[in-house]
Amino acid sequence: MKVTVIGGGGRVGACAAYALQCGALISELQILDANQAAAEGEALDLMHGGPFCSDQRIYAGDYTRAADSDIFLITAGLRRKPDESRLDLINRNASLFLQILGSIKNAGYKKEAIIFVVSNPVDILTRLAVQELDLPWQQVIGLGTMLDSCRFSALIAQELNLAPSQVKAILLGEHGDSMVPIWSSASVNGFPLTGLPNMNTAMQGKLFERTRGSGAEVISRKGGAGWAVGISIREVIHSILLDKKCILPVSTSQQGAYGIRDVCLSVPTVLGRTGAIEQIEIGLWPREKLGLQNSARALQETFSKLK
Ligand code: 2OP
Repeated sequence: MKVTVIGGGGRVGACAAYALQCGALISELQILDANQAAAEGEALDLMHGGPFCSDQRIYAGDYTRAADSDIFLITAGLRRKPDESRLDLINRNASLFLQILGSIKNAGYKKEAIIFVVSNPVDILTRLAVQELDLPWQQVIGLGTMLDSCRFSALIAQELNLAPSQVKAILLGEHGDSMVPIWSSASVNGFPLTGLPNMNTAMQGKLFERTRGSGAEVISRKGGAGWAVGISIREVIHSILLDKKCILPVSTSQQGAYGIRDVCLSVPTVLGRTGAIEQIEIGLWPREKLGLQNSARALQETFSKLK
């Protein structure tokens, strides 16, 4: 499988490329960036590690060489300032994103190619990609609340001194301020988290607020996320590559689950080799479903203001 990372000269793209190299499943990794020197530098640095890692072809290229990609991973964009919400980024990044989509269209892409959007605001840009590219909605996927869910599970595990790999806690909706914690399905090795003695409402609120603020927390300390977002990206790509049929909270064009349409956001979605296979309307607590519908309204309103 060939993955082209558009924005691979930046922190998120480079961390995603490194995670994919270490994951050793994809066969070809092309690094694209407006900063050509950065793209070449990252490709060279990654390629140098190959002998002790995995046998991928890794190189810096261009949109013409990207035309045969199986997945276009788009991480390019300006990072959010610590006090800036993701949606505030919208106009700065939307015009850059439309230029990238134009370059992909001009160079051509396979009819079965998958567009994987990470750039923020990811839900808005995913909807732009659905609108601009001549691909079925199932082949246009945004990272959505995958990173948030990874952080949520990690913070819960840390707080409860449990194995992170056994904690499964997700958020749905917007990758942003209106994201919704789904405590109704949160578990540790299959046991409901809400059944643990010290997992009271106050603790739940504290953990959710810290998760929701994690992007800004990382930005304020090191300028922007990298490692965890790279791992989250790899989780999605491996579910596609291996046709795993994982249910993941990725952002796709909503087709009516929970009464939601005309927006891209994260609902439980089955991912396989062809992209999104099914959006599953898993039972939620009433307040969770209301939160999800609120998230949809917030995103629809923002999209309507897109310049
Ligand atoms: C974050 O939450 C990059 O939006 C991403 O850090």
